[in-house]
Amino acid sequence: MFEKLIQFLFGSAEEQPRHFDNLTYYIQFKNLADDAAHVLVAGATGSGKSVFINDFIYSLSAFGNADYILLDPKRVELVRWRNTLDCVGYACENDDMIGYLNGAISEMDRRYRQMAKKGIVKWDGDDRWIIIDELADLMVTDKKRVMPLLQRIAQLGRAAGIHLLCATQSPSRKTIPAELTLNFTHKIALRCDSAIESRQIIGTDGAEDLPKYGKGLLHRPGGLAWFPIPLTEEDKLKERIALLQK
Ligand SMILES: Nc1ncnc2c1ncn2[C@@H]1O[C@H](COP(=O)(O)OP(=O)(O)OP(=O)(O)O)[C@@H](O)[C@H]1O
Ligand SMILES: [Mg+2]
Repeated sequence: MFEKLIQFLFGSAEEQPRHFDNLTYYIQFKNLADDAAHVLVAGATGSGKSVFINDFIYSLSAFGNADYILLDPKRVELVRWRNTLDCVGYACENDDMIGYLNGAISEMDRRYRQMAKKGIVKWDGDDRWIIIDELADLMVTDKKRVMPLLQRIAQLGRAAGIHLLCATQSPSRKTIPAELTLNFTHKIALRCDSAIESRQIIGTDGAEDLPKYGKGLLHRPGGLAWFPIPLTEEDKLKERIALLQK
């Protein structure tokens, strides 16, 4: 029965093995969403950060136990998901994005109060992902306001089921301070311009030798692992998003 349901939702795992619709990839992204407190994705321009984020949202939408808030400083990358069922917020202006970060903190505090009332230490409702493509854009223009909010979510979000997924092009100390990076339990380096950048993201060389796109290196508490990032084709994305409209 479960197998049938999975086939209905995702199609057969055998066909189109390189396509994102392959169940393996959903499971990979689902595991990441389940395991990670927060995820940072970094790499050179054109290395597939936005493709990763689309895959991630696509997966979240398939499993239906998480909602998401989309912060889109570039204004074009995430807007297509804006009216999907599980999207509980979308913003691309700084003030609005900061409003959503503050809102996430209020929600976090509300969840902690509820947890205390129930006597539980881990939020038992849906997860919420706050997804930012691209973090550097937001930091460059509004670091003073943004940093403390991100820091608070990064430190306290996990137990309340509030998680950050941030993509960034330039992982320099300026755009992502070390104290913030520390709280990202899962860091994925896509192709980088230099070994220095690779080290800034995953603590080791290697991401500078990755293919132009399609493959990442995941740094997680258990160590390093490959992380394939297939492209969700445009027509698939459109079809999926059309199905998910509110
Ligand atoms: N796995 C993949 N397979 C095939 N093509 C891919 C793959 N990943 C990325 N690409 C191609 O590379 C392009 C750039 O990817 P993407 O927009 O995700 O990069 P990015 O890292 O977000 O870049 P930027 O820093 O400019 O935002 C995609 O539009 C797509 O054409
Ligand atoms: Mg991008």
